[in-house]
Amino acid sequence: MATIYLNGEYLADDQPCISPLDRGFIFGDGIYEVIPVYNDHLFRLDEHLQRLDNSLANVSITTSLSHQDWRGLLEELISRNDGGDQSVYLQVTRGVAARDHAFPSDIKPTIFAMSNPLKPVAAEVHEHGVSAVSMEDIRWKYCHIKAIALLPNILLRQQALDAGAVEAILIRDGEVTEGAASNLFIVRDGVIITPPKGPLLLPGITRDLVLELAQQAGIPCREAGITADELKHADEVWLTSSTKEILPVTRLDDQAVGNGRPGPLWQRLIKLYQDYKRHYNGQET
Ligand code: PDD
Repeated sequence: MATIYLNGEYLADDQPCISPLDRGFIFGDGIYEVIPVYNDHLFRLDEHLQRLDNSLANVSITTSLSHQDWRGLLEELISRNDGGDQSVYLQVTRGVAARDHAFPSDIKPTIFAMSNPLKPVAAEVHEHGVSAVSMEDIRWKYCHIKAIALLPNILLRQQALDAGAVEAILIRDGEVTEGAASNLFIVRDGVIITPPKGPLLLPGITRDLVLELAQQAGIPCREAGITADELKHADEVWLTSSTKEILPVTRLDDQAVGNGRPGPLWQRLIKLYQDYKRHYNGQET
């Protein structure tokens, strides 16, 4: 049985009790993070905690936890769960109060964390790539906040799955923003391009690492807007996230991307990413 963390306690996952009046349940009033764990190390934890702080500040939720407290709490959670690679999910909601849209004045946030086994991406996915479909970005305009209210993302992802694809690539006003649960990169003429950070997309931790690794390797990269047409004619398309790492998209809207095989720059980046992961010891390099 897995152990979860809830409001200061470590509990078996069939024990915890959260009030139905929790604003996370009633309003989706909360934020979250997903952090991979490799070799017992929380991967890029400082970056995840910085984004957590930004999300909390953007929705005016305050906790008394310092980064050191979060580290201790999550390391304890990991050690109480089976070893091996894990995916830690943490969620902070505004807390429990009588239902009212206005923020209650005296309220304690609900803090929850769990850890699940992190399955490696299947070899055939790396061999053949995945398919994606482009769809209108129907989400709100604060996508930089990692909010738990994910109904549009869920509907979009499900639509993609129903169409036989693995991800929805979202287009707003003619430009690509990101995937329903991932960031997006294209390659054109040997240059890696990803949309710049801003309120219309989540600032992905994997996205930043991919840019960092590409820059270190001297591969040209740019943060620039990508039109739907540029996406369609890209040499390579990739999706990045903490749980999926870097996925090559080889079919988009039922057409081959490039020659329909994972491309040469993806091959280079996935190798750099795997090497970085293998050597990761909790210290940023
Ligand atoms: N999602 N964009 C969206 C909308 C996401 O939900 C995610 C990740 C990303 C990639 O961010 P990162 O590289 O920091 O994981 C981009 C997580 C994994 C999830 O919701 O499960």
